[in-house]
Amino acid sequence: MEKLGGIFNPSSPEMVVMAGLTYYIIAISIGILAIIVVAVTYIVIRYRKGSKDSSEPYQNFGDLRLEIVWTIIPIAIVAVLFQLTCSTMRAVDPPIGDHEPDVVVTGHQWWWEFYYPKSGVLTANELHMPVGERLLLRIESIDVIHDFWVPELGRKIDAIPGHTNYIWIGAGEPGIFLGACAEFCGTQHANMRIRVIAETQEEFNEWQEQELVIPSTPRSGIAAKGAELFQTKACMNCHTIVGTPAAARIGPNLTHLNNRQTIGAGVLTNSPENLTKWLVNPQKYKQGALMPNMKLTDSEVNAIVAYLEALK
Ligand code: CUA
Repeated sequence: MEKLGGIFNPSSPEMVVMAGLTYYIIAISIGILAIIVVAVTYIVIRYRKGSKDSSEPYQNFGDLRLEIVWTIIPIAIVAVLFQLTCSTMRAVDPPIGDHEPDVVVTGHQWWWEFYYPKSGVLTANELHMPVGERLLLRIESIDVIHDFWVPELGRKIDAIPGHTNYIWIGAGEPGIFLGACAEFCGTQHANMRIRVIAETQEEFNEWQEQELVIPSTPRSGIAAKGAELFQTKACMNCHTIVGTPAAARIGPNLTHLNNRQTIGAGVLTNSPENLTKWLVNPQKYKQGALMPNMKLTDSEVNAIVAYLEALK
């Protein structure tokens, strides 16, 4: 089940701490606002023209006591917020030390690559993680500045070309958490979606094993025709399918596309029908994306879809 709700539905220990800080700041701000509203209302009514005491009020300058009080109170408020912010940062961003990243996240116009260096899994747009574990993500970009953000699980972090950033992320409960690119990065910035799939350790291990399987290339029928087209119709110039000569990383790894829930970084749900529509004219669904309209015939499209569906 998909979960919505942003920072007001914190679903990781980090986000619980950050939401706590947010509530605290909102509470203090409401308190200050209430004091100001009451004071202004009182003054407006008390000194309004036409009341029995409507003469020019006494003008009081330079009250030392007042100056001290209204300097100390804001300093105290800021000091409290500073302290709370520091403790939140300490809880959310502990030192990395010599911890190796669990996932390398690379922003592309307009999709996300997820690489698990410890197992070698390479996938796109859907980040699987075991519930209750904190993963260290290394955030990079291949082209322009993007920003990785899954509101229920953590803060935003920029993906900057030529620079690496790190973020700890974990999920406190199983579910699908939706995220998106949070830095304008071009025409399809809005279609650079993230799905975090938080699952039990067993489910995660199963997924990981499945991702590492080298699929066998179909030898007969329409799927075999699709395999051949994939190598001859320039698909292989941009995509990887493990176990074949296709090893490019300009577009997402398609080896286990079957296991993913969406295509085009979230523009369409993953089904043979949608994959067909996508291959016929990707620009209709994601204008400006690097995936070109390959001008494939209907039978070529059907063969390539059959091939991608056969990769298990
Ligand atoms: Cu990538 Cu906005």
